[in-house]
Amino acid sequence: MTDQALPAVPSACRICGAATEEFLDLGRQPLSDAFPEEPPVAEFFYDLRVASCTACAMVQLVEEVPRERMFHEDYPYYSSGSAVMREHFARTAAEFLEGELDREDAFAVEIGCNDGVMLRQIGRAGVRHLGFEPSRKVADVARGHGVRVRGDFFEEKTAADVRRTEGPANVIYAANTLCHIPYMESVFRGVDALLAEDGVFVFEDPYFGDVVEKTSFDQIYDEHFYLFTARSVRAMAERFGFELVDVRRLPVHGGEIRYTLARAGSRRPAPAVDELLDQEETRRLTAPDVLRRFAGDVSAIRDDLLALLTRLRDEGRTVVAYGATAKSATVANYCGLGPDLVSFVCDTTPAKQGRLTPGTHIPVRAAEAFADPYPDYALLFAWNHADEIMAKETGFRESGGHWIRYVPGVRVD
Ligand code: SAM
Ligand code: TMP
Repeated sequence: MTDQALPAVPSACRICGAATEEFLDLGRQPLSDAFPEEPPVAEFFYDLRVASCTACAMVQLVEEVPRERMFHEDYPYYSSGSAVMREHFARTAAEFLEGELDREDAFAVEIGCNDGVMLRQIGRAGVRHLGFEPSRKVADVARGHGVRVRGDFFEEKTAADVRRTEGPANVIYAANTLCHIPYMESVFRGVDALLAEDGVFVFEDPYFGDVVEKTSFDQIYDEHFYLFTARSVRAMAERFGFELVDVRRLPVHGGEIRYTLARAGSRRPAPAVDELLDQEETRRLTAPDVLRRFAGDVSAIRDDLLALLTRLRDEGRTVVAYGATAKSATVANYCGLGPDLVSFVCDTTPAKQGRLTPGTHIPVRAAEAFADPYPDYALLFAWNHADEIMAKETGFRESGGHWIRYVPGVRVD
């Protein structure tokens, strides 16, 4: 059971308007991707509380952070920072090119194209495309790769505008972006306006089933407004005139699902949809007792991690963290991890280096600082990139160093 008080008044579901039930309170949190400079400027904080809809089962945040505070000129997340993700998006583009886009004058639209990691492949193949990307610096990187980018948020008005000037899209795709958008009615109206009659709306986001299974509570932060399941996505699709016609599990980012939606009745749903819905029902994924158990597992991880790091500090061990991920803002702020417990975080992103972690003010240093000299322990904040990181940091273990992980539970190896 969570040790936080439940709100007196339940909030309404952002999708269907029914009552929600709160099951987790991760406390006051800063923006997960706002890395202050030294000395720290005033930071924005909000309440990170999570609720599930009693009708459509959509898992969602209780408080919405205004979008301009999160996605702006200095948004520091660059999708191409991981070799595994570059490969993932190259494969995704190849599948679209061989499938839905293999037709005359095909048109692909991506919501949240970031630095163009996916669309640059579509562009190179000579296929007509457009990315929506409101965060200017990442959008400029995409433009530098020849990607056509519109610097707006995708919503009803901007999507309808593209339809008027460029015609219908065969594919509308969003990776790690749809769950960032609370105003879903406007998004679906936009998709309805822009999508061709036989087109597909494809999106992939962290799967709440994996979050519960792995207790990966760090998938919950300001930008991740929704934590989707097949059940909640199917209900959302139906509400807005679409149908869930395919699902595919993806191993990236700690476990995601790629959902394919089409206009209601336009395509035959794949058997995988019912299979996943059945699995979710058997697991009772969003049943109150399951959510309460999840909340209890989360606070157990906090207690274990704090106890371990406090002991290591008292023993005089050196501890640094690896990867200044947005996810780690939740962990560090919820567990109270400051520079007294973690000396610095190393990260390959220049826009994060020389800055401080949101809320907890741990210095962020370049990746090279990790081996200069190696610490005794490294807290793996970027656990979703573990294979890629382990493959290039073999010297750390060889030097006698130990990795600390907290997903699915705290362990040292
Ligand atoms: N698709 C990339 C990936 O999977 O790595 C980027 C994901 S990043 C976490 C989310 C991106 O969505 C950011 O670049 C942000 O600026 C953008 N974004 C947020 N809201 C948006 C909206 N309504 N329309 C278009 N892009 C949006
Ligand atoms: P993500 O989990 O949201 O993809 O963020 C990963 C963060 O970790 C990002 O700031 C880049 C950083 N990173 C490294 O520092 N080294 C690495 O090898 C990888 C893959 C990521």
